[in-house]
Amino acid sequence: MKALVLAGGAGTRLRPITHTSAKQLVPVANKPVLFYGLESIAEAGITDVGIVVGDTAREIRQAVGDGSAFGLNITYLPQEAPLGLAHAVLIAREYLGDDDFVMYLGDNFLIGGITDLVEPFRVERPAAQIMLTKVSDPRAFGVAELGMEGRLVGLEEKPAEPRSDLALIGIYLFTPAVHDVVADLKPSGRGELEITHAISGLLDAGHRVATTITEGYWKDTGSVADMLQVNQLVLEQMDPGVQGDVVDSELIGRVAVAPGAVVRASRIVGPAVIGPGTVVEDSYLGPFTSVAEDCQITDSEVEYSVVLRGAAIRGVRRIEASLIGHEVEVTPAPRTPRAHRLVLGDHSKVQICAYS
Ligand code: DAU
Repeated sequence: MKALVLAGGAGTRLRPITHTSAKQLVPVANKPVLFYGLESIAEAGITDVGIVVGDTAREIRQAVGDGSAFGLNITYLPQEAPLGLAHAVLIAREYLGDDDFVMYLGDNFLIGGITDLVEPFRVERPAAQIMLTKVSDPRAFGVAELGMEGRLVGLEEKPAEPRSDLALIGIYLFTPAVHDVVADLKPSGRGELEITHAISGLLDAGHRVATTITEGYWKDTGSVADMLQVNQLVLEQMDPGVQGDVVDSELIGRVAVAPGAVVRASRIVGPAVIGPGTVVEDSYLGPFTSVAEDCQITDSEVEYSVVLRGAAIRGVRRIEASLIGHEVEVTPAPRTPRAHRLVLGDHSKVQICAYS
C-alpha cells in the first residue's frame, strides 16, 4: 500500500502567509501541520509516499527531504496547477501503479492517526473508504448523504444547501479501481477534477464505497481560526520541559522552552511552546501560544497566537488570536501622533484596537 499526500494548492484563506510559504508547512506547536500527517502514515505501516507539489515545491522538498527522518521513502510528484484533488490522482497514476493507497490532504489534521482506518481496509478492500464527521456548517466541505444502514447515497462538493451535516474528511482510501473513473472525469463548474465525482463514479459503476463516521478530533487547517484551535489542542497534550535558559521568570502549567531559547524577567502561562534561539524578555506569554525559532518578544503580551520563525514583537500589549508571519516586526509607532503605521503584505488582515 502507498500514500498520496497533497501538498500543492494555493491556500487563499491563509494569505498573506501563503503568498510566501506553503500552507501545509504552517506550524502547529512549532511543527508543520504536514508532518503530523506523515507521522500518521508511517505509524500505519506505509512507507512509500508520493507528495503532490505545486508552486511551493521547493519549500516542501526542503522541509521533508527524502522522508528518512519519518522512516518514509518520498517521491515528489509535480502538479502544474491546482486542478483538483482527482487531478492529483491522475498525475500520480504511474507512481501508484496497481497498489491500494491512502490519499491524505496535507492540510488536514486528525488526532489518533489512520491505523484504525487502514487495517480493516487492507482486509476488506472496498473500492473506496471515506471518513465523515459532523460539522456545524457543512457548506465549506464535501458533504455526504447516507441512506439505509449508513450506505453512501451521494456526495456533493461545497453545496449551498447541504443534504446532511456530515463533512468529508480529507483522508480517503482507494483500490486501483479509482483510476478508471478518474481517467473519465470532466472538470466541474469550478474547473477542477473533483474527488467527490470520482467517488460517486465508483458508486455508479457498482463498486462498494465504505463510510466511517468519526467523532475523533479533525480539522482542515485552511483558515487562521482553525489553525489556532488545532494549535490549542496540540499544546494541551504536549510534554512540557525546559531546556533553554529561564532567568527571573515564572512558568505556569505546560510550558516547553527549547534548547537555545532564553526567557528573562517574564511570565509564561502554559500551555505554550518557545522555539530554539527565541528570546522572551520582560513579557507575558499567555495560554495556547506557539513561538517558533529565532523570534524576539520584548516588553509585550501575546496570547492564543502562533508566531512564526524570526518574528520580532516589541512593546506591544496585547496581541491575541493572531498568526504572525516569518520575520514580521510588530512595534509601537515611535512618536506622536499616536497613529498606526502599517506595512502590510497583500491580503493581510489587521484588527486594530479602536480605543487605543
Ligand atoms: O478538508 C476536507 C475537505 O478537503 C473536503 O471536505 C472536501 O471535499 C475536499 O474537496 C477538500 O476541500 P478544500 O477546499 O479544503 O480543498 P483544498 O483546495 O484546500 O485542498 C486540499 C489540499 O490539497 C491542500 O493541502 C492543497 C492540496 N491540493 C489541492 C488541489 C485542489 C493539491 O495538492 N492539488 C490540487 O489540485
